[in-house]
Amino acid sequence: MKIKSTFLLALAFSTGVSVFADTPVYLDDSKPIEERIDDAISRMTLKEKIALLHAQSKFSAPGVPSLGIPELWTDDGPMGVRPEVLWDEWDQAGWTNDSCTAFPSLTCLAATWNPEMAKLYGKSIGEEARYRNKSVLLGPGVNIYRTPLCGRNFEYLGEDPYLASVMGADYVRGVQSNGVAVCVKHFALNNNEANRYTTNSIVGDRALYEIYLPAFKAATVDAGAWSLMGGYNLVNGQHATYNQRLVNEILKGEWDWDGVVISDWGAVHDTKQAVEGGLDMEFGTGTDGLTGPGNSYDKYWLANNYYNGVRDGIYSEEQLNDKVRRVLRLTMRTAMNRNRPWGSINSAAHHQACREIGEEGVVLLKNENKTLPIATDKVRKIAVIGENAIKRMTVGGGSSSLKAQYEIHPLEGLQKRFGDDVEIIYERGYVGDTVTHYNNVWTKQDLRDPRTPEQLKADALNAAKDADMVLFFGGLNKMYFQDSEGTDRETLDLPYGQNELISELADVNPNIVVVNISGTGVAMPWLDKVKAVVQGWYLGNETGNTLAGILAGDVNPSGKMPYTYYATLDQCGAHKLGDYPGTPRHDPVEGDIIDMYYNDDIYVGYRFIDKNKLKPTFPFGHGLSYTTFEYGKAAIDKKKGSADDIFTVTIPVTNTGDREGSEIVQLYISDLKSSLPRPVKELKGFSKVRLAPGQTENVTFEIGRDALAFFDDKAHEWVVEPGKFEAIIGASSADIRSKVGFEIEK
Ligand code: BGC
Repeated sequence: MKIKSTFLLALAFSTGVSVFADTPVYLDDSKPIEERIDDAISRMTLKEKIALLHAQSKFSAPGVPSLGIPELWTDDGPMGVRPEVLWDEWDQAGWTNDSCTAFPSLTCLAATWNPEMAKLYGKSIGEEARYRNKSVLLGPGVNIYRTPLCGRNFEYLGEDPYLASVMGADYVRGVQSNGVAVCVKHFALNNNEANRYTTNSIVGDRALYEIYLPAFKAATVDAGAWSLMGGYNLVNGQHATYNQRLVNEILKGEWDWDGVVISDWGAVHDTKQAVEGGLDMEFGTGTDGLTGPGNSYDKYWLANNYYNGVRDGIYSEEQLNDKVRRVLRLTMRTAMNRNRPWGSINSAAHHQACREIGEEGVVLLKNENKTLPIATDKVRKIAVIGENAIKRMTVGGGSSSLKAQYEIHPLEGLQKRFGDDVEIIYERGYVGDTVTHYNNVWTKQDLRDPRTPEQLKADALNAAKDADMVLFFGGLNKMYFQDSEGTDRETLDLPYGQNELISELADVNPNIVVVNISGTGVAMPWLDKVKAVVQGWYLGNETGNTLAGILAGDVNPSGKMPYTYYATLDQCGAHKLGDYPGTPRHDPVEGDIIDMYYNDDIYVGYRFIDKNKLKPTFPFGHGLSYTTFEYGKAAIDKKKGSADDIFTVTIPVTNTGDREGSEIVQLYISDLKSSLPRPVKELKGFSKVRLAPGQTENVTFEIGRDALAFFDDKAHEWVVEPGKFEAIIGASSADIRSKVGFEIEK
């Protein structure tokens, strides 16, 4: 061996030619990526190029085997890394090393109003994806919460474009710091799950640019997301996944974005439209890739059909190369990035991150007479009632369903936290959903109960009667029609007779606290009868510990609502104006579709509430603490300036209570007079400050052009009109603490 290499080296010196072939440019990561891509493309056959653009299995695409360009592995997202499925099916592959950390739902993340939490979330979940050798994490979801009925609200970041933009962008940065791409979804206007394949979202440009696109722009342009997923729905008559306007004109045109557009799983229906509408990769067409004669992956719309089209000159090679270039870029940024870290999974740090994010996101909605935190010197016996105290929720909900390494349910958390000091009795009160599996992942629970509904209720009332406090854990449960992909809820009301049960429990024991587990708003007709309400989200592995910590007061709640808690559906524009659930129509090209008008326009969430002077159950931005905060008077550094100036607003905030806590201070901007109608006010800044008792901090906001502009749909540009504005500082969108005016001069 030694002789041979010495001989070869001598030969190389004597001829002046290296016997070891030079590293091809495409593999040489000291060279600029675009040069490497040029080189790779020059070596690829047409067949190889086409192969790159569609799936080879449920979640992977093939790469270029002859060139050693690796496969591209994707996986859901967005709240944990989904377990391995069979090559062609949704069912489990049966691995025993693919459990993950289940993080809190994205609505909970939004409720933290803390970009540091978004970064931590992204970094941690990205590490898990990296460890599992995934190059693309299918998330975050940044669709706007337009209706409380949408089955996937729990996967999204709330109703406000500014909040969703800030939080989404930092999630993206966190994930991609691992050399793992995000896939921001579902672009765009995928705001309901009922009829998700056939909904045709009909929206005007103002709502599009002001409400529905900002979070996508923040994720792609500001945070540099490497891939994006098109929605199933149609937008203004054309499928979102290859919508000329959305994808070609806006995303790849106006925003000049260089990433990969991936179809949602099974969202492609036509080769020509997909090729020309800017789609780069097709996934999930058909559910079983190997049934039927031949390999059905070859039958994907971007497979043989596309190959033949390019070969016959119907589609240009240049257009094909642009798609190939994007996919290679994605691969070089991820799977071929030799410098990316190795990742980690189920680490103590990730479990801690799960808990911290949950603790910052839980929202204390109501707390009469300081009922919470639980005073264990007085409360000696707690009756825990409700199915959600024992139901494990990391399983369910659709593609975000997880195989968590462990999950502590609320009752377990309470027993651990209070069990030594306080007597805890449990009664279920009702049987909601006894399903304990999804795609063959099981929670290992048996939720069947032989008792009749009457008996269950009687037992619960009996337990509540002589307890010092009732803790009711109810809400939704990620089963169909209850916060789940593919279905919307059918009503704002809680299911399974919970309204009646809560009310009757309050009758027998008024010292009752409701912990609502859901990722969306529910009606609370019993609100006046209960002492306290906590929005408990879906909190992943650490659910029980997180909630017990909040209820015990080990942690001071500091989350605020990322959406309006409507009292009735009528308070929500999409319902009040009769848009939802849309009108069926037969389209000559697309077949049976459902037209969903967006007549609520830019008036989504609190924008509709403000415009119509409504009183929701809890306003956007609302959340209480175990301490209290006082706001001083807002001051501005100048009263007049140009649209390009930066105005600085400062407001002192003091912790006036007796324990440390964090307050989310919100900045809304109001344009007092404008040529086009504008919302009464819009969120344009927020800051979460942690204060010791008695401590005051001056909270500062910078107001620039972006905070003042509206989208002029006729001129197709963002405009700041001269005139008077107000900077409004609130503890919520309805709890305004100070205002200061300023003027934009001509
Ligand atoms: C969902 C996507 C998901 C994909 C893959 C689709 O049905 O809409 O959000 O990423 O499946 O599981």
